[in-house]
Amino acid sequence: MSSQASAVKVTPAPAWAPKPATLARFASEVAKYPADQKQSAVMACLAVVQQELGFVSAQSEKVVAAYLDMPPIAVHEVTTFYNMYNQQSLGQYKLNVCTNLPCQLRNGQEALDHLCSRLGVEEGGTTADGMFTVQKSECLGACADAPVLLVNDRQMVSFMDNTRLDELVEMLKAQKV
Ligand code: FES
Repeated sequence: MSSQASAVKVTPAPAWAPKPATLARFASEVAKYPADQKQSAVMACLAVVQQELGFVSAQSEKVVAAYLDMPPIAVHEVTTFYNMYNQQSLGQYKLNVCTNLPCQLRNGQEALDHLCSRLGVEEGGTTADGMFTVQKSECLGACADAPVLLVNDRQMVSFMDNTRLDELVEMLKAQKV
């Protein structure tokens, strides 16, 4: 019986290696903690990665783990626990709609559904032009303003009824660079 090697095409993950400037930013974050507690800088280092790469790849998790002398799985646990870390490349604007109970009681799910319908995407999806990604979110800590939405992990917008959602989308489109 002849053995015939089958050609298996493997698509490599995008390579990422920290630049000297990236390592300097890591060092700056590590310096904020006692020398024997540099692992405390893991969230900040992952934020640096995301700012440079747009998301936190499996390879970059390993780089951070090696830099901080942590098991890679421990870094992965941080990445996957917090909404702010992207597991893949997303749209220019990441829109996180809170669907926890206080927001649900004030139409959080309706806000999410309206936004998905308005942009023509499923929850978790990205628009064809790469401009918007819509995700649901756990509590964003602003329950009194429910329902709330977070833009790119930084800008909180409150009391999101359909009119305000439409206005937000138009405003962000107008800001497109
Ligand atoms: S439940 Fe939505 S901000 Fe707390």
